[in-house]
Amino acid sequence: MAPPPSFPKIGSHRSVAAFRGHLAAVGPDVPVDGEILAAPASPLAAKCSWKGRAIGNRWAIQPMEGWDGTADGKPGPHTLRRWRNFGRSGAKLIWGGEATAVRSDGRANPNQLVIGPETLLGLAELRRVLLEEHRARFGGAEGLVIGLQLTHSGRFARDGAGRPAPRVAYRHPILDARVGASEASVLTDGEVEKLIEDFVRAASGARELGFDFVDVKCCHGYLLHEFLGAHTRPGPYGGSFENRTRLLREIAAGIRSDAPGIEIGVRVSIFDLVPFRPDPARSRPGSPGPGVPEETAGHLPYRFGFGVDERDPTRIDLDEGFLFLSLLGRIGIGAVNLTGGSPYYNPHIQRPAAFPPSDGYLPPEDPLAGVVRHLRAARDCKKRCGDLLVVGTGFSYLQDFLPHVAQAVVREGWMDLAGLGRMVLAYPELPADTLERGTMERKRICRTFSDCTTAPRNGLASGCYPLDPYYAGLEEAERLKEMKNRL
Ligand SMILES: Cc1cc2nc3c(=O)[nH]c(=O)nc-3n(C[C@H](O)[C@H](O)[C@H](O)COP(=O)(O)O)c2cc1C
Ligand code: SF4
Repeated sequence: MAPPPSFPKIGSHRSVAAFRGHLAAVGPDVPVDGEILAAPASPLAAKCSWKGRAIGNRWAIQPMEGWDGTADGKPGPHTLRRWRNFGRSGAKLIWGGEATAVRSDGRANPNQLVIGPETLLGLAELRRVLLEEHRARFGGAEGLVIGLQLTHSGRFARDGAGRPAPRVAYRHPILDARVGASEASVLTDGEVEKLIEDFVRAASGARELGFDFVDVKCCHGYLLHEFLGAHTRPGPYGGSFENRTRLLREIAAGIRSDAPGIEIGVRVSIFDLVPFRPDPARSRPGSPGPGVPEETAGHLPYRFGFGVDERDPTRIDLDEGFLFLSLLGRIGIGAVNLTGGSPYYNPHIQRPAAFPPSDGYLPPEDPLAGVVRHLRAARDCKKRCGDLLVVGTGFSYLQDFLPHVAQAVVREGWMDLAGLGRMVLAYPELPADTLERGTMERKRICRTFSDCTTAPRNGLASGCYPLDPYYAGLEEAERLKEMKNRL
């Protein structure tokens, strides 16, 4: 059996020059600053605005759920702590907090948040503690913009006992078997109309709670993302680009009419690839091999996704993404958060990592190439849709050199804000430390161990078990260790 591929470790680079040498092999066009700049010199310290709302700097916190709500969809203590950490980060755009289901059957796990009349008070606490923490640390909340991410998990929905309960936009030749989807899982047009009402009602709730915006989540393989790729679905919500975007347009129109004043953002998987799996020829029990694309020869042209090349689905295609962004502009959506793929079927493109989660595979490419894919997609999109506020994703794998790249890409206009995902679980204060002192604490840097994904894949709450003492001290940390030893 051939040995698995190995790639240079970012943490082994002792200088920006050494990192640049590595980056030259996969993304020579990506700009990198020579040092971390504090405010006011840092481009990340500059204000920007979204439809007249000032955003105090260029750091954004990406939505990060923790699988730690109550059975009835309210936040639990870990949830509240995570939102406090978001507030303490110093980032001025909180993009959605975490995926919150617009109804119970749209949850991806039995501990996901739900927005509804019974949970509104609990959700209000999330915003309150975030603001409280931000004010306590920074002396005010000027320029802080907070959203709530609204979702239906669609194909990846699970019931109250955690069993797959998929609802899909169309039959998928590869993914149906993975989640047990059948003809009965396909939403009818009538059910889609009901779903629109659910999103609109959820947005009204978020407005009541004082959120500045809702993110109508169209990414990561969840339901609204799947509708964007519903080429094979008959009827008004599938087929043509116009039909595939109808659901989002109707939700946006409903929100404008029933919840005027709340802003709408969209997090979208702007690129995608075919699903991957561990290479069977290089896998052993408990030791998955490198990822390989699923066989698509029998499914060409590949009409089962959005942002993927239908002639060669191992390649991304941004053409429809550009159309989508101009559509957002036309319907008055002023901000977009660009991401890619799905954590379920191609995690290496969605969250580049050195160490795979338990349901993943070894990296099929240098994870740095995954970061470069995100950055280039943002650059190409920003060039085409100058008026939209663009938040970029995929920074955490940059580790010690994250601020060096984030500063440079924002300065050069590849995106307006740099969004932090896993890094903020490991090291919430990174934005404040860089802006105030031009430094970061090396021992707190996320090394992409993927425990925050492995834990929830095995029924535990998510969190940074390796680096956050709060999680390291939980009883679950021991269980996670035992579980990983068994794998
Ligand atoms: C534990 C965990 C939870 C996440 N939860 C969400 C979520 O609720 N909504 C969402 O859009 N993305 C979610 N993501 C994806 C992140 O927002 C982000 O896109 C991804 O981690 C890549 O960015 P990074 O390289 O900075 O981590 C999650 C990722 C992780 C690791
Ligand atoms: S568990 Fe911690 S170090 Fe590992 S990927 Fe998640 S945030 Fe990063």
